Amino acid sequence: MDTNTQPILTAPPGFFAEEVTWVHHWTESLFSFKCTRDATLRFTSGQFAMIGLMVDGKPLTRAYSMVSPAWEDHLEFLSIKVQNGPLTSRLQHIKVGERVLIGRKPVGTLIPDNLLPGRNLWFLATGTGLAPFMSLMRDPEVYDRYERIIVAHTVREVKELAYRDYITGELRDHELLGEMVQEKLIYLPAVTREPFPVQGRITTRLETGEAEKQAGVAPLDPAHDRVMICGSEAMNADCKALLEARGFIEGTNNAPGSYVLEKAFVTK
Ligand code: A2P
Repeated sequence: MDTNTQPILTAPPGFFAEEVTWVHHWTESLFSFKCTRDATLRFTSGQFAMIGLMVDGKPLTRAYSMVSPAWEDHLEFLSIKVQNGPLTSRLQHIKVGERVLIGRKPVGTLIPDNLLPGRNLWFLATGTGLAPFMSLMRDPEVYDRYERIIVAHTVREVKELAYRDYITGELRDHELLGEMVQEKLIYLPAVTREPFPVQGRITTRLETGEAEKQAGVAPLDPAHDRVMICGSEAMNADCKALLEARGFIEGTNNAPGSYVLEKAFVTK
């Protein structure tokens, strides 16, 4: 902990103080951690909360999507590490037993109720944009509503495919979810800057129809398919344009639609 960061003894107003129980560093710029969850914290799988540390006597927080599903008794997050980022330069050094601040009011648009029922549900993620979909892919409600859940995660380098081993291994054997996952979940990892079986941006692969072929499903169709998008601002904008050109309509909390999007927030 640097001299500006204080241990969290009591939670400031609006936050819970939770204890870190697990930390995993995927790469030099990507890590995950788990923490305890207050019994009164309510959220819907796919939502995000403000999380952070006490720095210079004040909460320093950023929006983070929950990686863990709503039913889990702990919380899990996925974060980048930016060496001069105000929060992540500090948060990356967090250790088991230390505490983090968790905002009491999770929100967000990537929730099943913002989408109309349909055939296939696509999750389009780049980088840490996978986080809300890790939560949603472990929510039984999602499997009840759709025939296929397609997780298209695209990153620059192979080592950035966080949770790849979990999605292709442990999740398929999960006591409660395993059967649904095996029947309905299609994982489409892709890499843009290194050799990998699937290469190229998701936008390119949807334009050419390659993504649907890889998933073994019918071409994207707003009459039947639903899409959730979470990536950089540029990725979100390009996906939005591509979908709207095909007749997809953005869903909101008041009016469910055929797609929804959210920025993968934490960039510093
Ligand atoms: P690329 O390597 O071609 O830039 P980033 O770390 O910049 O957010 O990128 C994460 C992944 O998202 C990379 O695979 C990157 O591809 C891809 N990407 C970046 N911008 C876009 C975009 N506008 N549309 C689709 N994919 C994008």
